[in-house]
Amino acid sequence: ICEVTTVVEIRAVGDAMEMALALLESGDVVAIPTETVYGLAADATNGVGVARIFEAKGRPRFNPLIAHVADLAMAERIALFDPLSKRLAQAFWPGPLTLVLPQRSGNGIHPLVTAGLDTIALRMPKGFGGELIARLGRPLAAPSANSSGKISATTAEAVAADLGPRIKLVVDGGATPVGLESTIVKVEGARLRLLRPGGIAAGDIEAVAGMPLLRGSEGIEAPGMLASHYAPGAAVRVNAGKIAKGEALLAFGGRRAEGWQGAVAFRNLSVSGDLREAASNLFAHLQDLDHSGAKTIAVEPIPFDGLGEAINDRLSRAAAPRDRAATRDRAATRDK
Ligand code: TXA
Ligand code: MG
Repeated sequence: ICEVTTVVEIRAVGDAMEMALALLESGDVVAIPTETVYGLAADATNGVGVARIFEAKGRPRFNPLIAHVADLAMAERIALFDPLSKRLAQAFWPGPLTLVLPQRSGNGIHPLVTAGLDTIALRMPKGFGGELIARLGRPLAAPSANSSGKISATTAEAVAADLGPRIKLVVDGGATPVGLESTIVKVEGARLRLLRPGGIAAGDIEAVAGMPLLRGSEGIEAPGMLASHYAPGAAVRVNAGKIAKGEALLAFGGRRAEGWQGAVAFRNLSVSGDLREAASNLFAHLQDLDHSGAKTIAVEPIPFDGLGEAINDRLSRAAAPRDRAATRDRAATRDK
């Protein structure tokens, strides 16, 4: 995308903040230091920006990302806090604690950030990241700034060496003090579950919570890996060459599958065939077509290059047979 990545030291170059803001405002990504690891950040309300994160990381899947906030007020506009989560936020924010919470509807967070989940992972970072979010006035989606499968970067040099050819700016804040990703917890009823051990010791959280943390394999598994984590009510049929009457159509590009005129609802992921645009539209379009009430959503073939791999991964998960009688097709059959 760009041949030279600019690495700016926060204090040596006074305008690191301005450069980062300009890129974020234009829907681009920027690597920033946090107290845990470097993050690859984009405006969490900008779908194209968020799609660029997945593209730069070469993520095979759209795993849900952490949304980073500047203060508790911003967090409360995004998610609903139960009393225990609020107590943990007050005790550990800003800092390496991520809370998984139910989202407020209409919070402006792009669905690609949460991979279509109705929960969201929130964290308030220390230092430059926190200031940047306050200046932008919007939350930042940011996974660790490393390409998929590599370990998280804790120095600007490591970020530049790994992602250099694919991003325009690394803000250099020196080595990250924590060096480990944040601890992720989620309130489950009256209990608290540890989803990922990290920069805050479990015991410190247990001390504030006044109870032992639940642990278990189901919590550790990333929701993005679960076939059921985005399950539309409608069945999904991928790689559709022909559209049957009564199906909803999720199109891609400029040429239509045969029978498209019979579709009950229609969305195009990208008229121009741009996979970045398609990625940013994916979850919202699936939701719209699902709301149309169609029994099946037929999806035109999507190329596998670039972000297409992740798009196809998500679609095949949505299309995978479900054990529960969850689809409208099955529910209708059962009712008869
Ligand atoms: O320290 C950190 O947490 C760093 C810095 C940059 O903030 N970020 C980070 O992000 O480690 P990432 O994308 O590498 O890891 C995010 C984790 C994933 O394991 C993901 O499954 C989990 O958060 N996650 C995100 N949303 C979730 C949700 N709604 N429910 C459960 N887990 C969620
Ligand atoms: Mg990571």
